[in-house]
Amino acid sequence: MFYVLPNPHAIAEYLSNLLVQKIQENPKLVLGLATGSTMEPIYAAFVVQAKQLGLNLNDIVTFNLDEYIGLAPEHPQSYHHYMQTHLFKPAGIRQEQVSLPSGMCRDVELECVNYSKKIQAAGGLDFQLLGIGTNGHIGFNEPGTPFSSLTHVVDLSENTRRDNGRFFEDKSQVPTQAITMGIEDIMSAKEVVLVATGSHKAEVMAKLFETAIDEDMPASIIKSHDNFKIIVDQAAAELL
Ligand code: GLP
Repeated sequence: MFYVLPNPHAIAEYLSNLLVQKIQENPKLVLGLATGSTMEPIYAAFVVQAKQLGLNLNDIVTFNLDEYIGLAPEHPQSYHHYMQTHLFKPAGIRQEQVSLPSGMCRDVELECVNYSKKIQAAGGLDFQLLGIGTNGHIGFNEPGTPFSSLTHVVDLSENTRRDNGRFFEDKSQVPTQAITMGIEDIMSAKEVVLVATGSHKAEVMAKLFETAIDEDMPASIIKSHDNFKIIVDQAAAELL
């Protein structure tokens, strides 16, 4: 299902309500989480609402989509740091509840295999939150990634390094590789929600809307999921 909401604030309110409801229904919810600027207002709204309601978050389990290879958890641009700042610390979600791929492991191949296994051992993802790159990537699954992929190492495309360069002092500091959950891991979630906001996402959303399911547009796979939502604001919907 496609939904158009007026602005990022409305999307944040909507998703915060949805997350609260899911956790109230199942306090042991296994949540797949995303990073990026699209998620910031969503996490901020959720933290406020969870606090107001005194929501019990002690038993949820979370898995993040991805992490840069070579960035330590304390690095300000690492996704570990992002998650601590925007969600885990303010919501009081403990270290033992959360998993992210390690960007600093010695054996990346083993880290990848273990990460997918750990998701399965947790009973699989109940709910996966996704952003989208301007080239259609989800997590860091770049165009051309097989839909059958599990957690793997990615060489980041120039497009992605350029887009994400805004978070670094200069683009040359953007790592060249990352570990990402694979498309099969994402699709095995019981429910998938992709969010896009802002006019810089209008072109990719029009492409996502129009194109068939195709590995060159990784996000297109979610249109084949039994329980998916694609939520955009008016700016990201302007070419639909
Ligand atoms: C990164 C992340 C993706 C995210 C994308 C869009 O590449 N790996 O998971 O969806 O950025 O980010 P933003 O929300 O900042 O546009």
